[in-house]
Amino acid sequence: MKGKVDRLMAEMTLAEKIGQLNLLPAGEGLVTGAAQATTLAQRLAAGQVGAVFGTKSLASARAMQERAIAGSRLGIPLFFAEDVIHGHRTIFPLPVALACSWDVGLIEKTAAFAAAEASAEGQHVVFSPMIDIARDPRWGRVAESPGEDPLLASRIAVAMTRGLQGPDMLAPGRVAACLKHFVAYGATQSGRDYDNASLAWEDLLGIYLPPFAAGCEAGAACVMASFNAVNKVPMHAHAPLIEGWLRGRNGFDGLVVSDYTGVKELTAHRLGPAPVAVVRALFAGIDMDMVGEDYLRELPTLAEAGIDAPEAGLALSSAAIRDLTDRACRRVLTLKERLGLLDDPFRGLGATGAAPKRQAGRKLARRAAAQSVVLLKNNAVLPLSSKARVALVGPFARDRRNMLGTWSVSGNADDVVSLDEAVAALTGKAPRTAWGVNIVEEPWLEQRLNVHGVTVEHDARSEAELIEEALAVARQADVIVVTVGEAKEHAGESSSCLSPDLPAPHHRLIAALKQTGKPVVVVVFAGRPLALGGAAEVADALLYAWHGGVAGPEGVADILFGAATPSGRLCVTLPAHPGEVPLSYAEEPTGRPYRGHFQKFLTGWLDLPDTARRYPFGFGLGYSEVRYGTPSLSVTVAAADDRVVLTVRVQNAGPREATETVQLYASDPVARITRPARFLIDFQQVTLAAGECREVSFQIDADQFRYPIAPSLEAAEWVRDPGLVQLHVGPNSRDTQSLDLTWLA
Ligand code: NOJ
Repeated sequence: MKGKVDRLMAEMTLAEKIGQLNLLPAGEGLVTGAAQATTLAQRLAAGQVGAVFGTKSLASARAMQERAIAGSRLGIPLFFAEDVIHGHRTIFPLPVALACSWDVGLIEKTAAFAAAEASAEGQHVVFSPMIDIARDPRWGRVAESPGEDPLLASRIAVAMTRGLQGPDMLAPGRVAACLKHFVAYGATQSGRDYDNASLAWEDLLGIYLPPFAAGCEAGAACVMASFNAVNKVPMHAHAPLIEGWLRGRNGFDGLVVSDYTGVKELTAHRLGPAPVAVVRALFAGIDMDMVGEDYLRELPTLAEAGIDAPEAGLALSSAAIRDLTDRACRRVLTLKERLGLLDDPFRGLGATGAAPKRQAGRKLARRAAAQSVVLLKNNAVLPLSSKARVALVGPFARDRRNMLGTWSVSGNADDVVSLDEAVAALTGKAPRTAWGVNIVEEPWLEQRLNVHGVTVEHDARSEAELIEEALAVARQADVIVVTVGEAKEHAGESSSCLSPDLPAPHHRLIAALKQTGKPVVVVVFAGRPLALGGAAEVADALLYAWHGGVAGPEGVADILFGAATPSGRLCVTLPAHPGEVPLSYAEEPTGRPYRGHFQKFLTGWLDLPDTARRYPFGFGLGYSEVRYGTPSLSVTVAAADDRVVLTVRVQNAGPREATETVQLYASDPVARITRPARFLIDFQQVTLAAGECREVSFQIDADQFRYPIAPSLEAAEWVRDPGLVQLHVGPNSRDTQSLDLTWLA
């Protein structure tokens, strides 16, 4: 018996099929000003829309669905989609911040909560998780990413997909996940957004593709293509990667959508005029065309006449183009079927969407915020006593808007409890606050940052006056908490920056406060890893708090006053200097490796002082002292199918509870190609009561040492060599103990 999709496909006209490939923004909705029908309304009436993203209410989604069904001869419904990147109404910490929790269970919970909120407002698909590996802090979209490491990112991809889709996408409160951006968007040249990526196929396979493989295996229903080219071919035309690797090798059978005008942009990439761009994208496996409407415009003619464009090296018959259109349309309908929309077009659009309780979300957001904060330094200043007189200084002391971070499209700054309020609520007394300095000093930059809406508040007083005010407040305090960093629009899409360091006025503010002789606690609110330079040296305690969402400041307050213990670990390396990027702990060794200090003719920077401090991937302190015993292996020589067990004892030798993330890295001293200096193969998080001791064991198998050899994408194979490997276990990627293990052939 034919299924619903087959039946529809058999009945649909070419124009109806092309209509299904059109993915439009809700924009102004159905009417504008003097009740004029918008383009969207006209398209819906003509059956020319497959899905809509960015509706802002259940009522508007319902109204659009009614129009779509009325406009479609066969009554085919839309699906609704939204950018739910780190929460929907309840904004959680930025993805890069959440990744610093290394708590995949927590991340899954935040995704599940976001799914419930989004689905209560009629969303069926969310353009999330963003799982681009990001190693270049200049790239503004680091904020949305799970950080620099493929294993951590893969686990997050699974957690997010599970949280969003649940065991059954059709269950109430669940939505379909859309993995993005496929692929290597984080590897763009010089960290410039939308730029291209040229990289070894081995890097693509070993670093950038694994999170997508993991997300697909977890059942993600959708994938979004990225704007960049990979090795000369723009991803919206990359048949070998989309149809070849993603679907062919990796078995993905869901929907691939373009990014915003991504099909149209093939022309700017110089791949040809609109008809060529459309055929290339459709051939590559881009099923839906977001915003640009080039499929809608070009496909009717192409499907009649075919294409013969020798200057673009492209020729395809009309029959072939009709087949490609069918393929894409079938995939759109299949997703609609999976979403239950072919049975019930109003699924999820009922009058009373059961939104989860906001209070529960706030509680989760606060816990997530505290777990995302990374304590980088503490000269016995933290936690603060609630009796301490605190001066709270700097541009984020009373801030709400920036705390939401980038991609918080449905968030509301009024929901944020600011840091001064959070401290007051926790200690029973309001801290004295002062603005200190502006976030940026250059007016033109301020103007650019404000482009997407008023974000950056500016105080018209001079920097000297602002600092003087801060000093007056600081002099009356026992301890100074100074908030520095970047505005929410500093990070995110189209927000690459040349120099990812703390703004100069913030350095000057910290230096001035240090002169008071009082302990200075520096709290960094940012969307990317910033080089902290001298600020890290001067600080008596240093917290990296990112943009933590609606309860971000409360999470920081909890850490400052010991209501929560710091457990965050960096998911990205913090550079010592803004020029030493891109950067990763997993860089490959050179023939002249750096030896911890600059030496001529060895890899390094002449103008980077040896004292400059990087904070390594995986690093983070707590309020207790966790000691590692000597690790041991069940065997030191193993057969290829053996399971080896590494055991290490961790002891909480301090007076407070501690959550420790025990990290296991490996390195391969002899291989066929240059391999990363070390790479994460597993981690475990354990919570230890004061004085508690626990054995942590890792199961290790030979497959964890497979690596790709790829003279080309098609010829790629994953190989494993017998012989010696090294295992490194410890609290971060640098401070580890090593063991040798030999794999037999
Ligand atoms: C462009 C962004 O790159 C993508 O992440 C987002 O999902 C779409 N716009 C839709 O808003």
